[in-house]
Amino acid sequence: MLPCQSTLRFGTWVLLFFLISNLAMSEVDLHGAAKKRYLREKVRKMFYHAYDNYMTHAFPHDELKPLTKTYTDSLSELGNLKLEHLPHNYNGSALTLIESLSSLVILGNNTEFERAILWLSENLTFDVDARINLFECNIRVLGGLVSAHILATDSRNRFVQGIYQDQLLILAEDLGKRFLRAFNTPTGLPYAWINLKYGVMENETTETSTSGCGSLILEMGALSQLTGDPRYEAAALRALRKLWSLRSALNLLGTTLDVVTGEWIEYSSGIGAGVDSFYEYLMKAYILFGREEFWDMFQSAYLAVQKYFRHGPWYHEADMRTGKATYWQLTSLQAFWPGLQVLVGDIAAANTSHREFFHVWKRFGVLPERYLLDREMLHPTEKYYPLRPELAESTLYLYQATKDPWYIEVGESIVNSLNFYTKVEGGFASVKDVTTMQLEDHQHSFFLAETCKYLYLLFDDAFLVDQNYVFTTEGHPLPVKSVWHERLPEAYIPTNWTSVKNGKQSQRASALSLQLCPATIASTGGNAGYWFESACHVPDARTDHRCIADEDCGIDSTTCRQRTCSMASYCGLWLLIG
Ligand SMILES: *[C@@H]1O[C@H](CO)[C@@H](O)[C@H](O)[C@H]1NC(C)=O
Ligand SMILES: *[C@@H]1O[C@H](CO)[C@@H](O)[C@H](O)[C@H]1NC(C)=O
Ligand SMILES: *[C@@H]1O[C@H](CO)[C@@H](O)[C@H](O)[C@H]1NC(C)=O
Ligand SMILES: *[C@@H]1O[C@H](CO)[C@@H](O)[C@H](O)[C@H]1NC(C)=O
Ligand SMILES: *[C@@H]1O[C@H](CO)[C@@H](O)[C@H](O)[C@H]1NC(C)=O
Ligand SMILES: *[C@@H]1O[C@H](CO)[C@@H](O)[C@H](O)[C@H]1NC(C)=O
Repeated sequence: MLPCQSTLRFGTWVLLFFLISNLAMSEVDLHGAAKKRYLREKVRKMFYHAYDNYMTHAFPHDELKPLTKTYTDSLSELGNLKLEHLPHNYNGSALTLIESLSSLVILGNNTEFERAILWLSENLTFDVDARINLFECNIRVLGGLVSAHILATDSRNRFVQGIYQDQLLILAEDLGKRFLRAFNTPTGLPYAWINLKYGVMENETTETSTSGCGSLILEMGALSQLTGDPRYEAAALRALRKLWSLRSALNLLGTTLDVVTGEWIEYSSGIGAGVDSFYEYLMKAYILFGREEFWDMFQSAYLAVQKYFRHGPWYHEADMRTGKATYWQLTSLQAFWPGLQVLVGDIAAANTSHREFFHVWKRFGVLPERYLLDREMLHPTEKYYPLRPELAESTLYLYQATKDPWYIEVGESIVNSLNFYTKVEGGFASVKDVTTMQLEDHQHSFFLAETCKYLYLLFDDAFLVDQNYVFTTEGHPLPVKSVWHERLPEAYIPTNWTSVKNGKQSQRASALSLQLCPATIASTGGNAGYWFESACHVPDARTDHRCIADEDCGIDSTTCRQRTCSMASYCGLWLLIG
């Protein structure tokens, strides 16, 4: 039995909306504000250093090689560890430009965004003889295009009016149709690989990963919402349901499986590579589409993770059949988990794990890809740091939820490390070995899509203020809109707020923690640090937090301040300027 130190806290629903309402801080001390502005400008310089070098030396190829100032057409290499079946006649898809689109909007660079849209609409084609990884192409290319399309059509972004005629959506739809061919399997689980031009290749591997078939729903669901063609969402949903039906009696999944037989290949799994975004997408799909089904899956899956993978602040891997620990390893991808926990409302657990990841970052200067917890040493071959965003991402979520200035310091430290160790004349280079800080000739597109974006938003959240967004696993924002909601997310709304505030019941932990750690609850008598409902809290009039006037908004539970109605008609703690 694993120790049960930090259980899910009460107040989940409050914190979910606390985060996605993206409340602006009202008592910014000037020193803090000046520091954030300074750091924001530092991140802006980082983005443009990476972007301009890509545009000069690599565009329209996929990614920049910053040491030799040349390019790599890497779309076919993503997820392709053995570099098999590489294309012979493929000159790139401007991958890094597509990945930069939403960041350009967040940085306020409308002219460059427009220029990119025009170039892509005239020059980008997916009719290329290249075998690509469905998961990677989905999160980077489809997600990049869908998100940028929404930003381009946002009525507040008047800039592209006139030139924008759904060009990005047309490209996205063309890509989505190519994806559909991967789903033609007996199980509905998609092949991991397709050739963009010819579909699934003869003798293609039937092996895929949990994240490969369980994290398509945000992008493909959004594509269906935007085009009115239900096939994309239906395919992704069918695959997700099938995947979930293959879970073990412990509600655990493995890491890899066969798309034809539906049998597991690798029974061990954790929250890192090959699985991570499966969990992330259940929760985010629930927020984006408001379907109870996603929440039900997420809740069971999350409880199983906390029960079988967690050891204090760390997460090891376990066998899905027995729940027995298999590998005691920290991987750099796991650092996204605290960010997801913030969305769930489990702030204390998020804070604890995040601090451990940051310790490791401080110790090595960056996060090593894999660290052996049981032997307290680096993995012999996976000592690299490819400019991954996950720690910055979790730092942003925790800062949004708590406004604790300590997270700004974490962000500053990340920014300083990146500039000190990875900045070269031709861009930002991945670290090959964290013990020597030797560099590798590769600037991954996610550095522009995620790492720079999350750091920028940490220091300046203006983009988040009048619209709620879900960020895909590649950092592309999708707005939370009630018209996309099948139903409002009710799981977060207690049926009776009065009873929540009632003295006796206020010490009740959430149903989630009750299921997880009944012994703790009984033995502490309810006073050992559970997340209590705040005494001042008054809920908004409507459970979906929409409003017409300020009177429709309640009192914020964390700050005890009056929430007001934004221009976008959402209740929140908006920053009052002037
Ligand atoms: C790729 O570039 C090479 C060299 O410029 C050219 O010969 C080839 O036709 C291009 N291939 C495609 C598919 O555009
Ligand atoms: C937008 O990006 C381009 C290319 O990097 C740059 O030349 C221009 O100054 C940027 N504009 C703004 C407003 O930042
Ligand atoms: C499309 O690519 C060609 C060749 O690089 C270029 O001349 C043209 O300007 C591009 N179209 C746009 C709209 O940028
Ligand atoms: C597919 O596999 C079969 C049997 O191993 C083989 O005969 C055939 O040549 C393969 N086809 C391709 C395109 O590799
Ligand atoms: C996070 O952990 C630190 C150290 O234990 C603690 O001081 C801080 O109050 C915690 N913050 C939150 C929001 O739980
Ligand atoms: C809510 O709960 C309180 C305390 O348990 C109870 O007095 C009240 O009648 C309940 N209200 C509704 C509408 O059920």
